[in-house]
Amino acid sequence: MTNGSTMTNGRTMTSGRTMTNAIIECILSRRTSKYYDPAATLSDDQIRELVRIGTSAPTSFHMQNWRFIAVRSPEAKARLRPIAWNQPPITDAAVTFIVCGQLADSSVIPERLAPVVEAGIMPENMVPDWEIPARGLYFDHPQRQRDEAVRTGAIGATAMIYAARSLGLGSTPMIGFDVEAVAREFALAEDEVPVMLLSVGAERPGNWPQKPRRPVADVLDLV
Ligand SMILES: Cc1cc2nc3c(=O)[nH]c(=O)nc-3n(C[C@H](O)[C@H](O)[C@H](O)COP(=O)(O)O)c2cc1C
Repeated sequence: MTNGSTMTNGRTMTSGRTMTNAIIECILSRRTSKYYDPAATLSDDQIRELVRIGTSAPTSFHMQNWRFIAVRSPEAKARLRPIAWNQPPITDAAVTFIVCGQLADSSVIPERLAPVVEAGIMPENMVPDWEIPARGLYFDHPQRQRDEAVRTGAIGATAMIYAARSLGLGSTPMIGFDVEAVAREFALAEDEVPVMLLSVGAERPGNWPQKPRRPVADVLDLV
């Protein structure tokens, strides 16, 4: 969108012309699913591909401080459902990801940037220019470390939600779970925050349409 454009119901109006595209349609048509086809599965390759797409999302200093646990076997689903408010998508959807953000730790940065240097995108002598400010930002700041873990998990999950929609699959982000029990049951590391559960799979009929949103005028300050 450029200056002089306005957005109405997701349609960008520029010089009086209505503009949209397939990606905007995908974003606008997503809604949370409740009812899934319990017989529909996703292959491990399809699950890997969803996570690969999710990890194309941006992260602070390219730390990529996330991990995804794909709960897709009947046995693992049976372990998760009772500690996730008994929510039906966990057993009905093909897969539920435990989306974990890892507490921000600047010491991982050289390793995470090595492939960027290798690819010729970043000169090697620039790595400390990222690591040093990151250390200043996060070291000894547990709240910031945790905020970053949550941002990272949320942004990765968001990319997966829209990827799922674009493939005609439903998705359910969920905070309705027992954080401590999930961490224990699925052996999360000390530095891992279970940011949300995200079910993905083929839907069955009965899901609500997307709910109306607050008006843009109520949520946007143009300054
Ligand atoms: C962080 C987060 C947590 C959520 N937790 C749950 C949940 O535990 N169970 C559920 O059925 N829906 C959950 N939702 C879905 C919201 O209720 C839903 O996004 C909201 O009502 C708007 O509906 P829509 O996504 O269909 O437009 C969650 C959504 C988000 C973003």
